[in-house]
Amino acid sequence: MSVKEIFETMSYGPAPESAAEALAWLVDNGSSFGHFINGAFTEVGETFETRNPATGEVLAELTQATQADVDAAVDAARAAQPKWEALGGAGRARYMYALARALQKHGRLLAVLETLDNGKPIRESRDIDIPLVQRHFYHHAGHAQLMDKTMADRAPVGVCGQVIPWNFPLLMLAWKVAPAIAMGNTVVLKPAEYTSLTALCFADICRQIGLPAGVVNIVTGDGAVGEMVVNADVDKVAFTGSTSVGRKIREATAGAGKGLTLELGGKSAYIVFEDADLDSAVEGLVDAIWFNQGQVCCAGSRLIVQEGIADDFHARLKARMDRLRIGNPLDKCIDVGAIVDPVQVETITKLVDGNTSGELYRSAADMPAEGCYYPPTLITGLSPADTLMQEEIFGPVLVSTTFRLPSEAVQIANNTRYGLAASVWTENINRALDVAPQLAAGVVWVNGTNLFDAAAGFGGVRESGFGREGGWEGLSAYTRPNREPRELAKVEPKEGDGLPVDAIDRTAKLYIGGKQARPDGGYSQPVWQADGALAGQVSIASRKDIRNAVEAAHGAKGWAKTTGHLRAQILFYLGENLSARAYEFAERIDALTGRGDGTAEVKAAINRLFTYAAWADKYDGRVHGVPIKGVAMAMNEPVGVVGALCPDERPLLGLVSVMAPLMAMGNTSVLVASESYPLLATDFIQVLETSDVPAGAVNILTGCHGDLAKTMAQHMDLDAVWSFSSTDLSGQIEAASTTNLKRTWVNNALTRDWMGEDGEGAEFLEAATRIKNIWVPYGE
Ligand code: NAI
Repeated sequence: MSVKEIFETMSYGPAPESAAEALAWLVDNGSSFGHFINGAFTEVGETFETRNPATGEVLAELTQATQADVDAAVDAARAAQPKWEALGGAGRARYMYALARALQKHGRLLAVLETLDNGKPIRESRDIDIPLVQRHFYHHAGHAQLMDKTMADRAPVGVCGQVIPWNFPLLMLAWKVAPAIAMGNTVVLKPAEYTSLTALCFADICRQIGLPAGVVNIVTGDGAVGEMVVNADVDKVAFTGSTSVGRKIREATAGAGKGLTLELGGKSAYIVFEDADLDSAVEGLVDAIWFNQGQVCCAGSRLIVQEGIADDFHARLKARMDRLRIGNPLDKCIDVGAIVDPVQVETITKLVDGNTSGELYRSAADMPAEGCYYPPTLITGLSPADTLMQEEIFGPVLVSTTFRLPSEAVQIANNTRYGLAASVWTENINRALDVAPQLAAGVVWVNGTNLFDAAAGFGGVRESGFGREGGWEGLSAYTRPNREPRELAKVEPKEGDGLPVDAIDRTAKLYIGGKQARPDGGYSQPVWQADGALAGQVSIASRKDIRNAVEAAHGAKGWAKTTGHLRAQILFYLGENLSARAYEFAERIDALTGRGDGTAEVKAAINRLFTYAAWADKYDGRVHGVPIKGVAMAMNEPVGVVGALCPDERPLLGLVSVMAPLMAMGNTSVLVASESYPLLATDFIQVLETSDVPAGAVNILTGCHGDLAKTMAQHMDLDAVWSFSSTDLSGQIEAASTTNLKRTWVNNALTRDWMGEDGEGAEFLEAATRIKNIWVPYGE
């Protein structure tokens, strides 16, 4: 082509980045790799190939880890952890800054290696992935430096097992490794089998900067190795990948006392209102769904566009699709690179070919003749229930539907089992900030998409998983309160055969939807005092009662929209009303427990109500300092409807300690009273009834914790389950929670001092909230 012709067509010539340095690094390492364990590479074992998906060429041979390899890595991490922790935050920060600097120095090598191994355009690995990796290490070096002051009441968790996917290989490593080691943990990480090279290069960098042996260990292999890491003697598991594997991991770790964070799939809504800047919204969409060939967990893969502009918007979008440049990922002009592996192309093809609804449009741009590619695709005219509107395609395929009213947009956006991210496009800030909080998503971008930063938390709700990565909010998963855990001891109910304490038959009812209700099964059981007298009868709740209570709690969701000030007033009022009956409650506690500390327990319960009344309007979010012109607002939202098994040992204080933080943060709850001393909870119903608590905001059941735990954990409409029961039901609850991947907070055979400091505070507030990051870029 002559220069004149180039000027006329303005077409791009090829501008390939050189692969020489990355290929030389592979050759220097013999193009075959062992694992990185205890600061050194192991011998190469049984191997599998890793290929360049753009060309099909074999890049290197990787070792499939054995159980012995994983055990050796975990042993190395375990041995290194106390010394790493003892270095102190500032000591660890030195190493982390060194890592960050080395990652900068080797930025080009890493970007090319990533593109060779994964197929993503060099423009993305060079300008997005690797800079974010560096930023993550710098940011968390800072958290390490500050930890001794900012997190003085927290300690490292120990050894972390981490399993990551192939879509952002080094970035996912950074998201996992940086916060973990900053907080004094050591790690065993397994990269995805398609894309392990940058993880191994990172291991090489750890070696070069002299990171103490055993702090970072990397084992390679397939899903079976992932399973080994999850099941190994680790204290915490962090996983990013598919929802189906996330479920398996939830089940595999149930009852093991391991911390768990899951960052899973998504089907993120991309909502375009008619007053949006349409060209920007089209450009945003290119980044939302064609960034990394759509292999992005938070890809804006569901376009929801207002009806009046839909035709215009689709036309502009199609014109833009035709101009996307698809091809050699190493070419700096390329927009859309290769799909990670032929298996993934097959999955995408199957899903798209299986669809018979709507209208399909493919980009008219030239496609490479060979290699692992899939054309940018748009399917319009789908209805919300169509498979492609619901299933994660994980490829460059956008599906589209329309809406008329903002409320309808929210409804369609939330009509999914996922809840990772969403984008809202409108020039009306009122509308954007009205819609964003209503979206079931962990991250919302206003007039933007796929914005990430180390200072802002990322993570989902619903079946997109739980836990946050990045920012202050990401640190809690890698730390634990630094108090001594106490062993859980079952608190048995009192036995007796004496006479009733008074002649009137008293069968305490359940409290559902603001009314006292008889149990569905009609059964009750006696409750004995410490002196053997019959204190009364208590209802035995069944599955049906749980279902009714959950329904009532859903009906009261307006509680979440009340102001913190109003919730504070109601909590104060509860405290006042309990105080008016303090003597009566104290006597009842003494009679039931025989301990004689009823007065102190009631006093503590009143104080706890006042404490959470105080917190109700003070547990603020943050505005994160992200490097864009704009803000990322981390908002504390209620978790939703929470089921909780209350502690046995403190019949009144235990109930109040669980109920009050949930109420304060705007949750509605289904509380199962102390199994041993349920009558304090049923007495408390009268306090609730006289304190302006809206019907359904708090529901109280009595019955056997063991019988009710599983029903609660399986319930599709409960957003979280807590257990402080003195029966250790952790395993059952965690295993059963996989139905909707609800959050669980269980005691894992450990208990706390309810009368003391650990009976209230930050841990409870954090568990009663989830953080939504709303990004609002601004300016003209
Ligand atoms: P995957 O979830 O199977 O793999 C992710 C990681 O988990 C890999 O390192 C894999 O080796 C490991 N793994 C697999 N089975 C495991 C097990 N039982 N226990 C522990 N670790 C295990 O994802 P895959 O097969 O690579 O992709 C399948 C689909 O998953 C994609 O089509 C896409 O829909 C989704 N996906 C979602 C991602 C996200 O970020 N949300 C990332 C990758 C895939």
